[in-house]
Amino acid sequence: MTAIDVPAAAPLPVLTPDTLVPAEQPTIYFLGVSTGSSSIQRVFPSWAAELGLGDAVLRGIDLPVGAPADHTRRIVEFLRDDALGVGMQITSHKIGVGTAARDLFTHLRPLATLMGEVSCVTKDEDGGLTGFAKDPVAGALALDAIVPTGHWSTGAGAVVLGAGGAGTALTWCLVRRELGEDRPGTLVVTDRSAERLEHLAAIAREVGPDVPLELVQVASADETDAVLAAQPAGSLVVNATGLGKDLPGSPIGEDALLPQDAIAWDLNYRGDLRFLETAIRQEGSRGVRAEDGWTYFVHGWLQAVKEVFRIDVPTSGPDFDRLSDLARAAR
Ligand SMILES: NC(=O)c1ccc[n+]([C@@H]2O[C@H](COP(=O)([O-])OP(=O)(O)OC[C@H]3O[C@@H](n4cnc5c(N)ncnc54)[C@H](OP(=O)(O)O)[C@@H]3O)[C@@H](O)[C@H]2O)c1
Repeated sequence: MTAIDVPAAAPLPVLTPDTLVPAEQPTIYFLGVSTGSSSIQRVFPSWAAELGLGDAVLRGIDLPVGAPADHTRRIVEFLRDDALGVGMQITSHKIGVGTAARDLFTHLRPLATLMGEVSCVTKDEDGGLTGFAKDPVAGALALDAIVPTGHWSTGAGAVVLGAGGAGTALTWCLVRRELGEDRPGTLVVTDRSAERLEHLAAIAREVGPDVPLELVQVASADETDAVLAAQPAGSLVVNATGLGKDLPGSPIGEDALLPQDAIAWDLNYRGDLRFLETAIRQEGSRGVRAEDGWTYFVHGWLQAVKEVFRIDVPTSGPDFDRLSDLARAAR
């Protein structure tokens, strides 16, 4: 096994809308809520060395949940006007950037328009900004790694718990018609909000109307457990609710029975991971395979690095594994 050396560069102090200062070296910004504690602060320097990004650095910008729209706009204008700012990755404010700052983009890629959100911003040669929605792309790569080719021909279905940004992106990944037969027999999506379910359904109907879609508005774990009990063997069950990381807990009961031979995918890789624990407990007894969100995290950031620095990045194989291992060692 190759030794992994992790550069010990100190992260740059996190910025806020009131403390934005132009970059002194090529900088990819990271807009989130509490970016200082994200593992990408430690991962990026090791990737920059491995991928030959020279003296490029990553710098966080923190914006609280529910911040005023003009703060979001100020940050996007700052990137546009910052000569050494090369791009931005956005986690918690994708919809805010896609709506409040929409007119600041010279180009919006089709997936950003479809999803109504911007998760990655690049600088064009003429200084304009291009907005991307990268969750569907990263989600599709992670899904490919987790669900074996031909899996859906067994009649398995898919259940996505949570119709937020990640749940909507995965729905796009699962139902788009260009996959042909390689799609679940049915898709069930749960959420607490009817409005979010309808937004997701509008996208599902546009990209893959022939996959039967069931929307279930849930108010309790018991209701979600009943949804799981009705699924065929081999079904994919995705926790895209944020429970287990953003908030403690799980969308399913501690003793919920996952479908026989289910693939249980928790999009979280840190937090109390209660959904993942429930799945792991059923690995022996029910043939469940439990997966966490690490591969998705690595794909998401590598896709941003690819667009912002205009380089090729690996999506599988030993080169991808090396970057994933570097990230694990640095995190
Ligand atoms: N591994 C990765 O790289 C990666 C990438 C993207 C996302 N994620 C993770 O995926 C999760 C979701 O992210 P997101 O951006 O989609 O969050 P989000 O926009 O907040 O969406 C979560 C959705 O789930 C709903 N929900 C909450 N509890 C529920 C329950 N018990 N049953 C059904 N629905 C429920 C939420 O409703 P309310 O608004 O009413 O709470 C919300 O609509 C987060 O944990 C995030 O960290 C991981």
